[in-house]
Amino acid sequence: MIAIGCDHGGLELKNAIVEHIKSRGIEVNDLGIYENKSVDYPDIALPVCNQVREGKAEKAILVCGTGIGMSIAANKLSGIRAAVCTDHFSTKYTRLHNNTNVLCLGGRVIGPGLALELVDLFLDTPFEGGRHQTRIDKIAALER
Ligand code: RB5
Repeated sequence: MIAIGCDHGGLELKNAIVEHIKSRGIEVNDLGIYENKSVDYPDIALPVCNQVREGKAEKAILVCGTGIGMSIAANKLSGIRAAVCTDHFSTKYTRLHNNTNVLCLGGRVIGPGLALELVDLFLDTPFEGGRHQTRIDKIAALER
């Protein structure tokens, strides 16, 4: 299960991502928004990230205008490792090295063609573990 949410800056891209993930046969929990109205991105980031924190979703995707507001909010939550990505290399390595569980995208920054490729990389790239787990454990210690 993949949880997803957006604000008004990411609605169109979020809807494209939902359809793309479904077309791959992967279940999606779309927590909105569903229509074009102004909302505050922390109000979306929290319930979406909670799906991951509560073990109801394996990973999550958050879309706002830049991806940055969503990532700042998401990274305040314990257990969440969120990254804003705009390129293939960062998306691949944030999975391999950071075990990122939330991908943040900017609906006003990248187009759907690139975004869907980044979503696939985020979903399909495994965590390398090893020395990277040690570093993630140190990040977790910062939360305490
Ligand atoms: C909303 O106008 C915009 O600020 C938001 O979507 C996001 O880009 C914030 O980081």
